[in-house]
Amino acid sequence: MKRLSPDINRLMDRLNHLAKIGTVGTKGVSRLALSDEDKLARDLLKSWMKDLKLDFHIDPVGNMIWIKKGSIDCPPVFIGSHLDTVGSGGRYDGSLGVLAGLEIIQTFVENNLHHEKPLGLINFTNEEGVRFTPDMMGSYFLSGGSNVPEIHSTNSIDGKVNLRDELKRIGYLGDYDISKFEAGAYLELHIEQGPVLELENTNIGAVRMVQGISWLEFIIHGEANHAGTTPMKLRKDASYVAASIIQKARLLTHEFEGQVANAGLIEAEPNLINVVTNRVRFTVDLRNPDNVTLREVEDTLKEYAFDVSKMEETSLEINQLVRLDPVAFDEDIVDSVVNVCLHFDLSVKEMPSGAGHDAQMMADVCPTAMIFIPSKNGISHSPEEFSSKKDIENGLNVLFEVTQTLLA
Ligand code: HGY
Ligand code: MN
Ligand code: MN
Repeated sequence: MKRLSPDINRLMDRLNHLAKIGTVGTKGVSRLALSDEDKLARDLLKSWMKDLKLDFHIDPVGNMIWIKKGSIDCPPVFIGSHLDTVGSGGRYDGSLGVLAGLEIIQTFVENNLHHEKPLGLINFTNEEGVRFTPDMMGSYFLSGGSNVPEIHSTNSIDGKVNLRDELKRIGYLGDYDISKFEAGAYLELHIEQGPVLELENTNIGAVRMVQGISWLEFIIHGEANHAGTTPMKLRKDASYVAASIIQKARLLTHEFEGQVANAGLIEAEPNLINVVTNRVRFTVDLRNPDNVTLREVEDTLKEYAFDVSKMEETSLEINQLVRLDPVAFDEDIVDSVVNVCLHFDLSVKEMPSGAGHDAQMMADVCPTAMIFIPSKNGISHSPEEFSSKKDIENGLNVLFEVTQTLLA
C-alpha cells in the first residue's frame, strides 16, 4: 500500500506562485516586513488556508496563527516560519517552512487523518529584522520576550515609518490575546543557508542549536572638511574610524574560534568624494556558537572602537540592536528527526545553525527543533538562493513524519 505523503507538486507550485510576489530580477524576492509585498504574501497564505476551515488568529504584532483541533484539548504542535524576506532575497528562506506547514495540515485535512493533539501553523512577523529590528520580532513577542507597547513603538531602521502604523495599514494589526497562546512543540523546516550539507553530500540537517547573535550599531561623528587642503593630523575623519572598526571585526574572526562578523549597513555623510566624512552609521553582525567567546569579541571590538575614535578625536555611540544567546533544541525531537531520516534511508547530519530563526525563540516556549535541507552552493539572502525539488521533498516528508510522532 502506497505510503501517504504530502503533495510535493502542490508545495512547489505554491512556492513558485508566492515567489511572484515581490520579484526582484528573474529569481530574487523582496518582501520586507509589513511592506505591500508582505501583505500580499499574507493575503495569499490566508486564501490558501481558508479552505481548511481552521481557527485563525492574528496577534497585536501580526503573527498569523492557525489551529486544527485534535481529539484531545491540549497545547498544539506547531509548524512555522516566516514570509518576510531580506531586500534582495531568495524564494525559499522562510517561505519553505510556512508552505510546508500548510501542505502538511492540508494533507491531514484532506485525508481526514486522526490526531490527538491539535496541529497548528504560524507565520511569524518580521523574522529578518532588516526593516525593523530586532530580527525574529514576531516569535520574540509570542514567546514573551517583549510587550505590545514596546514593539508598537518601534520605528523602521531608516526612521521613516512606525511599526504599528504599518501593521494597521496592511490590515494585520490583530488583537489575539497571546496570554492564551500555548504550544506543545514547535518544528521548522528551513534551508540550511550554508554550504555544509551540500559539501558533505547529506540530505538532511538535524539542527541541534542556533549560535548566539549580536547586532551592534556604531554612529561616529567627525568633522566635514576639505579632502585636499586639510592636514592629515587635523582631520576628524569618521570614515577612517569606521573602516578601522570594520577591519578589526574581521581580524577578530581570525583570533576567536567559530567567530563570524559582517558590516552590512553603512551610511556616510555627506558621502562626497572630496569631503572628509563627518558622520558614519554602520552595523556589525557578530555571531558565535559559544556565548563566552561572543561576549569577549563584543567587548574587544567596543574597546578598540572607542580607542580609535578617541585618537581621531571623533565621537562614538554604540547601540546594541540585538543580543541573543546560543539556543539548544530539544534532544528528543532532534533524535526523532535523525531516526526518521534513517528510516527513510536519508543521510542526516546533526549540526548547528549559523542563521537565526524563529525556532530559537520558540525553544523558550516548548520543545523545539529544526530540519535543514541543502542550499545550492551554500548561498542564501541572495537571488541565487536555490534548493532542489528532491531536497524539498525529502525535507517535507521528514517534517510530516516527525510531526506525526509529536501528535500521537
Ligand atoms: O539574520 C539571520 O540569521 C536571519 O536570517 N534573520
Ligand atoms: Mn529564515
Ligand atoms: Mn533569512
